[in-house]
Amino acid sequence: MSFSQRTHTCGELRLSDLDKNVTLNGWVAKKRDLGGLFFIDLRDRYGITQLKISPDNKALIDIAATLGNEFVISATGKVIKRESINKNIPTGDIEIEVSNIEVLNESKQTPFVVEEDVKASEELRFKYRYLDLRRNSMTRNMIVRNQVFQIVHKYFEKHGFLEIETPILMKSTPEGARDYLVPSRVHKGKFYALPQSPQTYKQILMVAGIDKYVQICKCFRDEDLRADRQPEFTQIDLEMSFVKQEDVFRITEGLMKEIWKGVLNIDIDTPFTQLTYDECIKYYGIDKPDLRVKGDMRIADITHHLANSQFAPFKNAIDAKGIIAGIKLSGQQVSRKIIDNLTEIVKSNGLGGLAYIKLTAEGVQSPLTKSLGPEEMKLILESFENPAEGDTIFILSGEFKKVSEVLGLLRLNLADTFNLYDDSKPAFLWVTDFPLFRYDEEEKRYAGEHHIFTMPKAEHLHLLESNKAEDILAIRADCYDLVLNGQELASGSIRIHKSDIQKRVFDIIGLTDEESRQKFGFVLDAFSYGAPPHGGIAPGLDRIVASLCGTKDIREVIAFPKTTSAASLMDENPSPVSEQQLKELGIKLS
Ligand code: AMO
Repeated sequence: MSFSQRTHTCGELRLSDLDKNVTLNGWVAKKRDLGGLFFIDLRDRYGITQLKISPDNKALIDIAATLGNEFVISATGKVIKRESINKNIPTGDIEIEVSNIEVLNESKQTPFVVEEDVKASEELRFKYRYLDLRRNSMTRNMIVRNQVFQIVHKYFEKHGFLEIETPILMKSTPEGARDYLVPSRVHKGKFYALPQSPQTYKQILMVAGIDKYVQICKCFRDEDLRADRQPEFTQIDLEMSFVKQEDVFRITEGLMKEIWKGVLNIDIDTPFTQLTYDECIKYYGIDKPDLRVKGDMRIADITHHLANSQFAPFKNAIDAKGIIAGIKLSGQQVSRKIIDNLTEIVKSNGLGGLAYIKLTAEGVQSPLTKSLGPEEMKLILESFENPAEGDTIFILSGEFKKVSEVLGLLRLNLADTFNLYDDSKPAFLWVTDFPLFRYDEEEKRYAGEHHIFTMPKAEHLHLLESNKAEDILAIRADCYDLVLNGQELASGSIRIHKSDIQKRVFDIIGLTDEESRQKFGFVLDAFSYGAPPHGGIAPGLDRIVASLCGTKDIREVIAFPKTTSAASLMDENPSPVSEQQLKELGIKLS
């Protein structure tokens, strides 16, 4: 089909183009009929341009009258100055006085109106994703994603990394999430797994002497989904030989700096703040603290000031070797309703109650004044930085981890309630020294807190030989997360490169020699041929792009995402397969 091809895009024309004869191709975004005078908003990836069709051109008016939303047209005409300027769009000073329209394709009535302020349900947007992606904000998200891709490639090229692809069909090594499995036709009864990450391959590439590896790769995990979790997602996966933790930090910080500068023109300060995992739990009750919270609202442990308290909840906590701790909110009106709401959070998280102290013009207001003496009250107040009129202190008592966790929740709840986020700059944070193991209550065994290839800290290596739970759980690792605004953006570690340490870690997580050979024999073999010290990290690309686009929902920055039940509504997958296919694979459905 021949048609008049565009001379410009719909986002391109400005006052400097006045009087030019132009042709635009695009979709009808909106049509207005002002008594025979038609205005059409024509949309493409680059923007929107207004077309004007005057009533004296009868033939054109007849065509315009037939146009529906999302028809694809070619419009030719002259660039003229617009009478009513639209400041909201870059082309808002001009319009096209149309002399010819060709209808390139019609559109059925769309299931929802393609507009910025979309009213459609999420299901509908996913089912008709090609319509959803026509919306300028979605297109912009795709553009940002592309920008990040380009910056990543250039950055790592500049730093001497080799981009190397690793297999998508790999060996199933379930440690972490569940694998997606792919049955083999040739080897009936055997399965490939889709990679949860290229972890083993990138480490083997270090054994192969590649030295610096990077890959923008797809990862697949059959796990419960949330706003920031998809069953298939993208990582910027990297690994380096002969490095220490700080080398991985510097290369990652440099990347974030270039991404934020390149996409948002924001200069971010490096090096990023660092806190250990233990400090995070102690001060923020969570391993990914949001450092944007104004006033910081760190948790203060006040147990030692209340050692002799006879107030039952405090006394019980101390007797049970627990803690009493609190956070201070500055300069906000805390209503009864807010306190009730916070108390609800405390109770639903298994703690008895919430104590509070308000510093008012009339002095201290608190239910605790009945139970605590003035000296104790004074000591409590002194535990917080510059207590002042208008402040409210919230106090919890109980087991250390629980109290910290719930105070962490209250901190974020208060920050939400009073909008206490400083959004002037992204708040990056390195969290270091994670525990090497966690105890998996369900499986009644230890599991790797990050993954099982993570190196214990040198000073904790001896604890690997202990059989005591407290020793095993006390082992800290050369393992780190990069946190951005309270979200885990990247995770990585220095790896074990010695077979004896690796073997001991396998022992602790309960893998017998036979099992570890069966699952990871190829890694152990590779490591026995001169594995260099190495380490790496994997920033989640979807989360980076989402943050740049100002959303927490990574589905907004993935062209074809899955729903929370891991389904793709557009192409209806997963879907049944034919009997024949199953037969070839030797699979019988029960
Ligand atoms: P980890 O499992 O912590 O580490 O993942 C690294 C980063 O990937 C992102 N991410 C996800 N993004 C979207 N949906 C998901 N389901 C999802 N799961 C993880 C997060 C996370 O920080 N191989 C190691 C890295 C290493 O040690 O080098 C790994 O995969 O942003």
